[in-house]
Amino acid sequence: MHISNLFCVLISFIFLACNSNQKHPGAVVTGHPEATKIGIKVLEEGGNAVDASIAVQLALAVCFPSAGNLGGGGFMVARMHDGSSYALDFRETAPKRSTTNMYLDQNENIIDSLSTYGPLAVGVPGTIDGIFEAHNKFGKISIDTLFNHAIRLALKGFEITERQANAFNYYQEDFEKFNPNNSYLQALNWQKGDTLRQIDLGKTLTIIRNKGRKGFYEGEIANNIVSTIENQGILSLSDLKEYKSKWRDPITLEFKNYKLISMPPPSSGGIALSQLLIKIFNFSLEDIEHNSTEYIHLLSELEKRVYADRSQHLGDNDFYDVPIHRLLNKKYNQQRASTINFRQATPSDSISAGLFNLNESEETTHFSITDSFGNAVAVTTTLNTSYGSKIFVNNSGFLLNNEMDDFSAKPGSPNTYGLIGSQANSIEPGKRMLSSMTPSILEKNDNLFLVLGSPGGSTIITSVFQTILNVILFDMNIQHAVDNKRFHHQWKPEYIYIEKNLASDSIIKSLQNMGHYIKERNSIGHVNAIIYDKNTISIGVDKRGDNSGEILNN
Ligand code: DON
Repeated sequence: MHISNLFCVLISFIFLACNSNQKHPGAVVTGHPEATKIGIKVLEEGGNAVDASIAVQLALAVCFPSAGNLGGGGFMVARMHDGSSYALDFRETAPKRSTTNMYLDQNENIIDSLSTYGPLAVGVPGTIDGIFEAHNKFGKISIDTLFNHAIRLALKGFEITERQANAFNYYQEDFEKFNPNNSYLQALNWQKGDTLRQIDLGKTLTIIRNKGRKGFYEGEIANNIVSTIENQGILSLSDLKEYKSKWRDPITLEFKNYKLISMPPPSSGGIALSQLLIKIFNFSLEDIEHNSTEYIHLLSELEKRVYADRSQHLGDNDFYDVPIHRLLNKKYNQQRASTINFRQATPSDSISAGLFNLNESEETTHFSITDSFGNAVAVTTTLNTSYGSKIFVNNSGFLLNNEMDDFSAKPGSPNTYGLIGSQANSIEPGKRMLSSMTPSILEKNDNLFLVLGSPGGSTIITSVFQTILNVILFDMNIQHAVDNKRFHHQWKPEYIYIEKNLASDSIIKSLQNMGHYIKERNSIGHVNAIIYDKNTISIGVDKRGDNSGEILNN
């Protein structure tokens, strides 16, 4: 070998070795300060990012009861230090006794609130199975230690935030209505700084710690779940016993010098985010100004086309053949992007989902964690809307989800997020309802770069998309990228939802002149993110909520 070639090989080797040993101090960014503290403690005790994610998830079930949960489900995307990636699906399933038309009356009209409030809204919870599955595969420290942090928090109590005090008071009526004999957060005028102690929840966590997965899906807790909703509910003991979380192949997309790793179906997140990224980098973006008329128009038009596909083609791939490869095909996305008119909004009614030959083959919570071993975990979990079905399991201290509303109760009829669906997302026993949750990890030049995700129902995908663009297109630091105002289009209804103070009156006027309809929203998404750039770690903590983050000090 020529000496100069040898030199190049040597330099590349040193470069690769340095990269694989990239120093990662580790960080935790979650929806609540108590959960962040516990995540950092686990990392300090020598746990890895998956251990910390389990402890955080259990802590959030205690300190963030509107979304953190034992009675719901979620998704985890992980990239381990060796570059391997994983997606764990612990999404709820439809109970065996569910039927396609279960939310329709005799005239086939949707019965109001049945899929969002009360016993029939509840899907089979997946969180606890997901926790044990993740721990079996990657856990480094004992599961008991991870549970003990949350047990202590439940029994000792914690001081609630102002936002929580307001929400506890706001939902009193609902809690009373759905739990007439079982008080939950009731009969109090909650104030910021009040201590919330949860003795029943502490006992439940102790039972699960001692008995493992079975402690939740069989025996006393399972009986309590079923008996709480037995009068009108359809969830059975065998639904619980047979629940299984699943490892899935993540959606991956290489673009520019980045690689996206995100959640596959039953989430729409990974596919929709990939479609948006493929489409946007089809355009020359050098001169586009952040949050200008042109930018808001372009993203809204892309989003309409992507959400039209979502409504037609996405559902649980175990039940419906989702055309994943077609949806991610570069030419297909470029062709759909090419129908954008740069002077005029395309009316949503004239956009439909892409045609394929199909026979061919505001409450959720997101946390991002990295560790000093180089592992990264992005987890989004949910009860669906705030406090889920509002049903509090007798003697067990936790709430049940209302995830059934994420199914399409009737083709073309909107769910609580205004999303419409089709047969791909119709209700079938054992099927998982389509999600928008988008826990995601981005590599840059083959190295760990960005870990992020968000709550926000249908706006999750567009919040994650805009945060990524803020970083990679507009060079913002991560906190600025998270703070920046967001907007959202989901094809139907035909609105661009814009956060207050994002756009000047003149931008709004020019968008309206192009044929867009605008609605203002107080807040869109809560993005919690960690970034490694130029060998420096930084965190982006979304101030739209009680989110908190910390970098490990080592
Ligand atoms: O899975 C989904 O897409 C929804 N159940 C998420 C709900 C949500 O993000 C509510 N948060 N604000």
